[in-house]
Amino acid sequence: MKARELKKGIYFVGGIDWDLRDFHGYLTQKGSTYNSYLIIDEKITLIDNVKYYMADEMIARISEIIDPGKIDIIIQNHIEMDHSGSLPLLMEKCPNAEIYATAKGIYGLKRHYKKEWNFVPVKNGDILNIGKRNLHFVPTPMVHWPDNMVTYCPEEKILFSNDSFGQHIASSERIDKEYPYSILMEEAKKYYANIVMPYGKMVQKELAVASKLDIEMICPSHGLIWEEHINEIVAEYTKWSKNDIEEKALIIYDTMWKTTEKIAHKIQEAFEESNVTTKMLNLKVNHISDVMTEVLTAKYICVGSPTLNNNMLSSVAGFLSYFKGLAPKGRIGLAFGSYGWGGQSIGLIDDDLKKCGFTTLEKIRVEYIPDDDEMKMIKDNLVKQIGKIK
Ligand code: FEO
Repeated sequence: MKARELKKGIYFVGGIDWDLRDFHGYLTQKGSTYNSYLIIDEKITLIDNVKYYMADEMIARISEIIDPGKIDIIIQNHIEMDHSGSLPLLMEKCPNAEIYATAKGIYGLKRHYKKEWNFVPVKNGDILNIGKRNLHFVPTPMVHWPDNMVTYCPEEKILFSNDSFGQHIASSERIDKEYPYSILMEEAKKYYANIVMPYGKMVQKELAVASKLDIEMICPSHGLIWEEHINEIVAEYTKWSKNDIEEKALIIYDTMWKTTEKIAHKIQEAFEESNVTTKMLNLKVNHISDVMTEVLTAKYICVGSPTLNNNMLSSVAGFLSYFKGLAPKGRIGLAFGSYGWGGQSIGLIDDDLKKCGFTTLEKIRVEYIPDDDEMKMIKDNLVKQIGKIK
């Protein structure tokens, strides 16, 4: 449980959740961290805290540096319980500490913990002097909840960015340059796709603020700290938040008797013939949160399901529910599937894709099993449609 000094007097004292595999529906294969940062100054300051079950780990790290009872100030950049869950235990140790948060943050903390702690509301542009250092507060509503803010320390050139720029990675490494670059960027992409994607416009506002700051270190609330690859992650956030998509088609499906799968492969052939990169994503073997990582940069979203009991398969319905919540925009959709009678699944999928605001291609519906002529027609018709919109 060692604290890690990041700059003189500034320490990582968070929790490393090696076993975490599910973050409300997001498969976190590599675990996660809840990053909490201790600043030793005239006023001892803690920025964010950890999930309730990691409180002892955080307090052990703090205790290595200082008696937790000496904490004067707690900055709560965000109230979600992965960053506030250990407040009740922490406040038993430093009951007189002041808690700085946005007005919405304070409201949320009261709703969660039913305590009248020493709350201090902050607003855009407020600056808190803690001795040799100043902390500047910038609200960033909806990245990730309405209460969010980031904290910037100009003397250290550190941006404490909370959920922004995070990745779900549990590791003993703390700084980006210590960790394999490609895995780090892939996990940052997955995190953006599954947590941040609905809030692209707000991310752009945050990036505009950050572009005016002199930043040597971005300290997020999950995963590795950005130091060597700040330009790269900011460039990726710029691209993702602008919905910069690629000529890439995802064929996302589940299948009952392999006919929908057969159609899926024919759809792939049509895109390949049209020189569009493709990816087959069978929902039986791909987790929906990994599918979303691909969705982040894909222009064509093809979704297929056979009809079962007048509906689509539950795996496809579950995916679409998750997908709609993350609100990707400006895509081209295609619904497909096979059926014995009824065939409702394809229309339901098409409706869902339209509800996302997508332009949709002609639905592909196949009764029972297609013959070679029907398969050829599916491909030729799709190639023609892709040609018109590419
Ligand atoms: Fe990592 Fe919105 O909490």
